[in-house]
Amino acid sequence: MDIYRAPDTLQIRPSILYFGTPVVLITTRNPDGSTNITPMSSAWALADRVTIGLTGGGQGLANLLRERECVLNLASAAMHESVERLAPTSGANPVPSWKHGYRHEADKFALAGWHASPSLRVGAPRIAEAPLQLEARLLHVDERPLQAWQGDAGGYFTLELEVCEVHAHADIVVPGSSHIDPRRYQPLFYVFRHYCGAGPALGRTFKAEV
Ligand SMILES: Cc1cc2nc3c(=O)[nH]c(=O)nc-3n(C[C@H](O)[C@H](O)[C@H](O)COP(=O)(O)O)c2cc1C
Repeated sequence: MDIYRAPDTLQIRPSILYFGTPVVLITTRNPDGSTNITPMSSAWALADRVTIGLTGGGQGLANLLRERECVLNLASAAMHESVERLAPTSGANPVPSWKHGYRHEADKFALAGWHASPSLRVGAPRIAEAPLQLEARLLHVDERPLQAWQGDAGGYFTLELEVCEVHAHADIVVPGSSHIDPRRYQPLFYVFRHYCGAGPALGRTFKAEV
């Protein structure tokens, strides 16, 4: 008879729990009509809703709370170097004092080397280079003042968004359908502060349509 031996485990206290979620580039409109880009990864989708987590003090958060709409641009693995150019920046001016190592950046499109495409249902433009672009409206906000855990003066917010338009690069859509081809879509993941690609597709669920 086989005896299963469980892998050894250690009890650890990691400073962050970014266990691997896709990188989302949120485009929002600034008060002066220009566009901000917020790289983030605390996001999950269910049906036509996407729930995101944002720390306080960011320009993208302020824009979202004011305009109640945005575009969720899903980054591709090929975009990781540009994402990292945006990483130490904020559209907020001045940058909140507790965001050490960040500087203000007014033109994040130019810094990243990306191009803006107009949206159909929201004011903020899409990022043309992103393979999936989800136009969305804000439904619900929860503020969570978790300073003790975060070490952040801004606490954090969870925001529930309703996706109202989905744009996909034609080359990741199964021809003649509304299905994304996971063999062609190459998302960028944020895993314990490292950028990773998805690797090859391994299989599919019984509910997959292609
Ligand atoms: C790959 C990546 C993932 C990030 N994930 C999040 C996140 O999930 N939530 C968040 O609040 N900030 C996240 N950040 C940090 C924000 O991008 C950072 O606070 C930035 O200054 C916000 O820009 P803004 O102030 O112009 O909105 C992430 C940054 C990077 C580079």
